[in-house]
Amino acid sequence: MALATAAPPVPPMPGRLPLAGHAVQMFRNPLKFFQSVSERGGLVRIWLGTKQAYVVSDHDMLYDILVRKAKSFEKGMQFDQARPLLGNGILLSEGDFHRRQRLLMQPAFHHTRVAAYVEVMRESASEVFDGWRDGQEVTMYDMFYELAVRIVIKALFSTDMVEQDVAQVYRSMPIVISGVEKRAAIPPALLDRLPTRSSREFHSSVARLYAMGRRIIADYRAQGRKPDQDDLMTLLFAAQDGGNKEMTDKQIQDEFMTLLTAGSETTPSAMSWSAMLLGRHPEVQRRLQEEVDTVVGDRPVAAEDLRALDYTRRVIQEALRLYPPVWALGRKCVQDVELGGHHIAAGTEVLYSIYAVHHDPKLYENPEAFDPDRWLPERAKGVPRSAFMPFGAGVRNCIGESFSWFETQTVLATMAQQWTVQPVSAEPVKPVAMGALVPGPLPMKVVRRAK
Ligand code: HEM
Repeated sequence: MALATAAPPVPPMPGRLPLAGHAVQMFRNPLKFFQSVSERGGLVRIWLGTKQAYVVSDHDMLYDILVRKAKSFEKGMQFDQARPLLGNGILLSEGDFHRRQRLLMQPAFHHTRVAAYVEVMRESASEVFDGWRDGQEVTMYDMFYELAVRIVIKALFSTDMVEQDVAQVYRSMPIVISGVEKRAAIPPALLDRLPTRSSREFHSSVARLYAMGRRIIADYRAQGRKPDQDDLMTLLFAAQDGGNKEMTDKQIQDEFMTLLTAGSETTPSAMSWSAMLLGRHPEVQRRLQEEVDTVVGDRPVAAEDLRALDYTRRVIQEALRLYPPVWALGRKCVQDVELGGHHIAAGTEVLYSIYAVHHDPKLYENPEAFDPDRWLPERAKGVPRSAFMPFGAGVRNCIGESFSWFETQTVLATMAQQWTVQPVSAEPVKPVAMGALVPGPLPMKVVRRAK
């Protein structure tokens, strides 16, 4: 390729250690690592162990990977660790099979369908907020996590055993996610040979979640389809009943685990960061509460209100920019491709951090500042599409994007009707880059609004 020789060489990241490469720095402080790589250039070479990979920090090159040249890439090594949990579900499947599954499942996530889930979202949120006491300290992340699990289970899977299932996911999923992460750093074969408590807990938690999935599937089959039911499980079963041979029970199980994981790890992060930011910016919280008072008043939040809750949406958008729940991802190049004038050979692993893009001073004025009004149409028109991608882009973008917006807006607006949230400490909240980017447990004081 002529371009390959014409382009300047891709700069290597300094600080490579023998054998470990940059793995130690990356695991020790991943956000800082990706930001420091981004300061070196849009495309930089790093080493994970002895294996070379590229880090893309240029938003336009990233758009090439996700959209314009997406055919040259598949999900990368980072996703392989999740395969024992998610199988060939929609997050990990590739090619025509992925396309067919996506088309099949899409209707359950269409925004008109998602609007019907708002009642479940609002009811579940009210149950939590109605139970708070004035002045109580609430561990916000844990509360939002449990709430998000409840919402996904009720909305998408119509299970009759909500309490039992929520408790099971709440207990098992964090152990499973942290086990999957450990397996990304230490070879699973080695980890599983060590008879440690954490290894045992990982396997029994995976087994419990699988058993729950099998039970929900068996219940569906036993009950048959109810006439008014059009949730996700119903769509998957209808495909099976309609003779779709690919829709085996194992496939339904994989899709179940995928949606449960994707839907319960991400929105709690968005809701917690929004709450943290509201607590630290009382003027923003007041403005959001005033908007909710004007648009909704004291009646329950409804799907029709969400469009008018414009400021609430901007607050969430700014929280998603500052703290994107899915903060770093990767792809594997499957056919030679050109990126920013450089030749990338098939087989190369490419990593990128949307956190680094969202904090890039070339793209955002004063990037560390929390400024929801930067998303006002007249100010946002200068921001390129590829500078804000918390839900990814292209054919592999988030199927749950509308679901997430509806859920986050409904939950925050319902909370704002009754409560003001306040920090309990002046210490800055440090992001923890786990599966999702989370604020830790996030204790906050909740104060009943005087109206
Ligand atoms: C704030 C909340 C959320 C964020 C930030 C988020 C982010 C993302 C991102 C960045 C991707 C693309 C991954 C890639 O390019 O490799 C993705 C994919 C996906 N998300 Fe979400 N997500 C959120 C909520 C949800 C919810 C609530 C669900 C389902 C209930 C969901 C289900 C999925 C699925 C199934 C995929 C894979 C889609 C495909 O490959 O076709 N997500 N998400």
